[in-house]
Amino acid sequence: MEIPLTILERDLLQQFTNYFNSIPELVVTSPGRVNLIGEHTDYNDGFVLPMAIDRCLLMAFKKRNDDRITIYSSDFDSEISFSASSFRKGDFSWGEYISGCIWVLQEIGHTPGGFDMVITGNIPVGASLSSSAALELGILRAAAHTAGIEWQPMAMAKLGQRVENHWVGMNCGIMDQAICACGRKDHALLIDCRDLTSKLCPLPKNSSIVILDTGTRRGLVDSAYNERRAQCFEAAGVMNIATLRDGDKEMLERYRSQLSPLAYRRAKHIISENSRVLEAAKAMENDQELKLGKLMYESHCSLRDDFDVSGKALNEIVECAMEHSACLGARMTGAGFAGCAVALVAKGKEKEFVEEVSKAYATRMQTEPRLYVCQAADGTTIRPFDGEIMEE
Ligand code: GLA
Repeated sequence: MEIPLTILERDLLQQFTNYFNSIPELVVTSPGRVNLIGEHTDYNDGFVLPMAIDRCLLMAFKKRNDDRITIYSSDFDSEISFSASSFRKGDFSWGEYISGCIWVLQEIGHTPGGFDMVITGNIPVGASLSSSAALELGILRAAAHTAGIEWQPMAMAKLGQRVENHWVGMNCGIMDQAICACGRKDHALLIDCRDLTSKLCPLPKNSSIVILDTGTRRGLVDSAYNERRAQCFEAAGVMNIATLRDGDKEMLERYRSQLSPLAYRRAKHIISENSRVLEAAKAMENDQELKLGKLMYESHCSLRDDFDVSGKALNEIVECAMEHSACLGARMTGAGFAGCAVALVAKGKEKEFVEEVSKAYATRMQTEPRLYVCQAADGTTIRPFDGEIMEE
């Protein structure tokens, strides 16, 4: 069936034609994500509840007969080009995510061939919406196609995480790659980060998800992230458990005197957050938007006060949102410190929420935020330019 192209796709087609002087064969759509609840729990073997969003990277590509990979990013207005049989770590900046994907497929015994590609998209970079996971899964999807590898979403997510951990050098958990690969339209996904089982959770019917971008971007996040990780592992060690996933409230109080006050607060966030995620998933199953919203705000307070990963802009925007009568709940989302918050808003009131909260924040912080209503989308897909999604 022929599918009408969106403006972004038409633009991409044009750019590819101009750049490579030929027509692309396929297009990969790779979404960003917003996490509804369950922050910093993934690397503690815990639970997360993210959704893939309708902001994505679009990648038009065409197989080549040699092993050269040439990719032009229209957003960065920059090209990377290398041979799949000879490249090194540290050669490129944004291109590291790309060479890392080729490296990881080779590591597991595949031989991805060459391709020409143009990438465009509308996921803001560095805003906690996982543009890097979208890039990894998109490249993996295209390269898997050229190498004839069967697409298994969660297995590919694990490869994406390996790229981050061992090639890019970011010690992240599995959440971003998992939701980018496994997301589903109209649903969030409850993921058990210990065994990687997952369950689709429908979004409450009477509410909408709004992303609130403070416009601030994170700086030295990696070191703070690694520090939090270490503090969590330290607390688990004191409590004689493999990871904080195995802890509960009662155990935490029992060990309180042996934990440093800081380790206690870090563990308290992770343990309480895991319970909140499970409660949130139940609330979604029962279509209880008020309950979900309440849990989201509790999560924010825990991240702000106990885990200490929020920031002035994030706290202000969450408070501006919470003061609006249509807001059911709000919280910072992602690693923290800067970037975006997420709010659950009463259906039908999105427009006034966006306008009034934007105004309130701008008055308080002297800077315009960007707020947008977003829909839950499918994970990374591949299809012919004007055709239907392919199963591979
Ligand atoms: C980043 C990481 C994820 C996760 C979140 C915090 O997005 O990439 O693995 O740890 O921070 O929840």
